[in-house]
Amino acid sequence: MDNEVSDALRVQHVDPRRLHELRRRVLRSNNPSISVADPRDDDETAVHFAGVLGERVVVSASFYPDESPVDSHLATYQLRYMATDFDVQGRGYGSRVLAEAEAFLVGRGVQQLWANGRDTALGFYEATGWRVVPGSDHLSPETQLPHHIIVKRLIDED
Ligand SMILES: CC(C)(COP(=O)(O)OP(=O)(O)OC[C@H]1O[C@@H](n2cnc3c(N)ncnc32)[C@H](O)[C@@H]1OP(=O)(O)O)[C@@H](O)C(=O)NCCC(=O)NCCS
Repeated sequence: MDNEVSDALRVQHVDPRRLHELRRRVLRSNNPSISVADPRDDDETAVHFAGVLGERVVVSASFYPDESPVDSHLATYQLRYMATDFDVQGRGYGSRVLAEAEAFLVGRGVQQLWANGRDTALGFYEATGWRVVPGSDHLSPETQLPHHIIVKRLIDED
């Protein structure tokens, strides 16, 4: 990883509308007719993070309180719209935004994260401490791409 470049990345809380362009380009093939707004975006409990280089948003990650498909007794948030812009992928930016988001959410009492992870991104999630739920393979109704359910515990097992 290029530390000099990575250090220039700032992780910020942002209004979700600042993430729409990146969500659309990286996750929805830049299709202008597909909505990239989540119905929960403006909920007070939703949290949106951007990784920013200068004024440019290069990473998006949004979190919403949600019941988890596993260990549903834990206070859980769903991660959606995880994306790093094409030209800056593989520089550690996505993992850095996730790490800062997780630290923030732990401070809010969140115990676990879950997400529908694209099969092509599962290596990223496993590298950042997530686990794939066996047998959870499915096609996303939004993109028709293969996904698995993934989870990450943010608290120690007791
Ligand atoms: C998946 C994605 C968010 C990763 O972000 P990133 O900023 O490129 O990831 P990082 O550079 O922080 O990578 C962290 C680690 O994950 C690994 N990794 C990243 N993407 C990977 C992938 N697709 N497959 C396997 N491993 C991957 C990196 O090699 C790195 O490992 P290391 O710590 O051992 O060096 C980004 O590639 C992306 O936006 N992809 C297209 C959209 C997408 O699939 N989003 C996820 C939707 S569920």
